[in-house]
Amino acid sequence: MIPESFIQELLHRVDVVDLIDGYVPLKKAGANFAACCPFHNEKSPSFTVSPSKQFYHCFGCGAHGSAISFLMEYSGLGFIDAIKELSHRVGLQVPEDEGRRTHDGPKISGLTEVMARASKYYYEQLKRSEKAINYLKGRGVSGEIAQKFGIGYAPEGGQSLAAAFDDYGAAELQLAGLVGKSDDGRLYDRFRDRVMFPIMNQKGETIAFGGRLLGDGKPKYLNSPETPLFEKGREVFGLPQARAALRDKDTAIVVEGYMDVVALAQHGVGNAVATLGTATTATHVQKLLRQVDRIVYCFDGDAAGRKAAWRALENSLEALPEQKSVGFVFLPEADDPDSFVRNQGTEAFERLIAQAMPLSEFLLRELASHCDMTSAEGKAKLVAEAKPLLGRLQTPLLRLQLVKRLAEASGFSQPEVERLCDLRPIVRAAPARVPRQAPSLLRPLLRLLLQKPELAKGLPLGALAPNSAEARAVGYLCQTILAAGEPTPPYAALLERLRGNEDEGIFREAAAELMQQPFAEEDIDAEFDGVVHRLLEAETRRTFEVLKQKVAKLGLSGLSSEEKQQYVLASTTSGRTTELNRSS
Ligand code: UTP
Ligand code: MN
Repeated sequence: MIPESFIQELLHRVDVVDLIDGYVPLKKAGANFAACCPFHNEKSPSFTVSPSKQFYHCFGCGAHGSAISFLMEYSGLGFIDAIKELSHRVGLQVPEDEGRRTHDGPKISGLTEVMARASKYYYEQLKRSEKAINYLKGRGVSGEIAQKFGIGYAPEGGQSLAAAFDDYGAAELQLAGLVGKSDDGRLYDRFRDRVMFPIMNQKGETIAFGGRLLGDGKPKYLNSPETPLFEKGREVFGLPQARAALRDKDTAIVVEGYMDVVALAQHGVGNAVATLGTATTATHVQKLLRQVDRIVYCFDGDAAGRKAAWRALENSLEALPEQKSVGFVFLPEADDPDSFVRNQGTEAFERLIAQAMPLSEFLLRELASHCDMTSAEGKAKLVAEAKPLLGRLQTPLLRLQLVKRLAEASGFSQPEVERLCDLRPIVRAAPARVPRQAPSLLRPLLRLLLQKPELAKGLPLGALAPNSAEARAVGYLCQTILAAGEPTPPYAALLERLRGNEDEGIFREAAAELMQQPFAEEDIDAEFDGVVHRLLEAETRRTFEVLKQKVAKLGLSGLSSEEKQQYVLASTTSGRTTELNRSS
């Protein structure tokens, strides 16, 4: 694991402007640099790089990050490789195995290390196993692709992993799902005599495995259980390997199997990922649509594949934003993407993807296939069955398209379909937060903290009522800054620690605002004091309002003596003495 301090040192040495300029020529634009965004197609430059804060932000597509994330996104490198590459450029030596990335918490980073070591072990075992090598060769997998996916082999023995870990009995091995315990307390390797496919997160860290039997038998694939690192419905196989191709093609192909992804990559189709023997979830869809504008589902040509496609459709509906699209490819019966691309070739496969069936068509066809479209009842049934699906759509355009097609198919008029389906205008879902604490103050506070993280030390935590996403974000940011110790990390280094936080979006927005309108260095302390002062005042007022309501209900005698004190204090500090007099 790479120590946090090293990452900070690295980001200090690298100049993000230099780095990016080497890939995407940058032009000076005010205090920043700009270019057309390398992560989405655009004609006028909205990709902006801040030399002072050492991060980039695209005002078009929201791409955002430090030098490390730029390399990851642009070159498709994993987290560790991006760090190695950057270190190499500035002549730093990456320290091995000292310290831990503290923000993951000791438990998680411990598991990450365990998985990394297991993955390395399996990878090395593959080189020694002739039968595993032959198996992969027989399936047309080259050494290069095997390496790209980190494919390994788990040997036959009952406790092979003991060769890779000093303490085979360590609880972490069991927690990581690598070692099981039998009823009589014996420990054994979960994966034995299987070809191992590491499942990686976006950073390229192994978080789980899928293991395939070399021959026939059951289960054909054995997957890691869910662990603190691995939640099935969130992860897909092949994501870090697909990164560059996803960007190039702006399309993600979702398939069912590990071997489908590997075989497609082998045939030059790099933008495929697989769900892990589970249905495609809305989380999967959201995750992928952050990176591309289009998803094409390409499942096996059997009944199960069709069913999986329908589940994928259902789960895509609510996760589908405007401007993004979803398509479906149905392979010939008995084919899966692996066999299809091997037998028919890359071009034939790419053609299928290009001609994928639009979501609206698949939806209608599938519904119509079990309604008798020659009868009035059948047509009414079609509309009735479409109703719950339409209700889940968040995009007015797609909904309108579907309504039109439903009208055509059913013979009802468009308004009739809308009425039958009980459709109301789509209101943009209000942001899920209830910012009871003046957000107008928390936003600038967040920007101040991002511009000058040291300020966190001077923030009285009582100033934050924890009742909005912004307040939570500010609180988390402060904790992160304080936990980092000295020297206080600058924004780009903080970014690495905030990766994956639930409020990451808020930090990004605030940093982007900052990029356009930074505070003047000489004003920043005064600005901060002002904001804190107003926050404390607002907090006092809030307390006062709560107490006032209580007094209105119960009278002054309804307050505890502590509350009375607060009430008097609050009423004087917020200049409400008259009201106090009146209500008492
Ligand atoms: P398939 O049965 O279609 O296998 O399962 P496949 O991908 O074509 O495998 P090969 O070509 O025979 O090697 C599709 C996916 O479902 C999950 C795996 O993720 C697999 O890749 N699966 C399947 C399991 O998790 N366990 C199983 O026993 C079978
Ligand atoms: Mn297959």
